[in-house]
Amino acid sequence: MKLQQQINTKGYAIFPIENMKLFEKLRNSVTCKIFNKREKNINLLRRKMAKMSNIDINKSMINLLSFSEGSELMINSCQNIVKELCGKELFIQRRANTIFNLPGKEQRRQWPHYEMMSGISPFTYVIWAPFHDLDDNGGVYYFDKKESYKIMKKEYLKGIVNGPYILKMKNKKKPMKLKFGEAIVFDPFILHGNIAFESEFARIACSIRFQSAKKPLMQRNTDFLKYFKIN
Ligand SMILES: [Fe+2]
Repeated sequence: MKLQQQINTKGYAIFPIENMKLFEKLRNSVTCKIFNKREKNINLLRRKMAKMSNIDINKSMINLLSFSEGSELMINSCQNIVKELCGKELFIQRRANTIFNLPGKEQRRQWPHYEMMSGISPFTYVIWAPFHDLDDNGGVYYFDKKESYKIMKKEYLKGIVNGPYILKMKNKKKPMKLKFGEAIVFDPFILHGNIAFESEFARIACSIRFQSAKKPLMQRNTDFLKYFKIN
């Protein structure tokens, strides 16, 4: 099934990253900023990160601020997929997100949410990719389109968006286990989040939001997005 068809049906699709050289460059640049040194063994870094304090995690996020090429690297490593969904002329997130998920019950989590709640347009897509194999439950779970819409409609009838109904929902979804080199692309109506997990490793992933430059923007405008053309 073609990617667009898969997204139309399920709301998300898993695909192989086309340019691994660029994606590895992105991973190496990000990890170098986080840990202040070059280290190719990602599992060593993940193990180190699993033991980091919140203060050290915050310091790493500050170090990452000086890295601004993440969004182009991410889009260029998945050019054909992005072109298929949105064409060559795009608005892309100015800064691709680097996202950590630390093991242990006391760590912060992303509660179930739709990307739409953050003011992006309904024409936005998100690509999310881990920087390593995901063998444990440190990844992200996704409700498919049918399930997400059902929940969204229930909320709509109560006049709320991403409110207590979703926050208190008993989630039985398991995070996806992707391989390094695989990514997931999803639309902004898909409910997703992560769970507390046990592992000796932290999870490190990257995500980027993009849409066609010909489609309208919403609250998130050019403060958040920048014009970008795929060559
Ligand atoms: Fe999200």
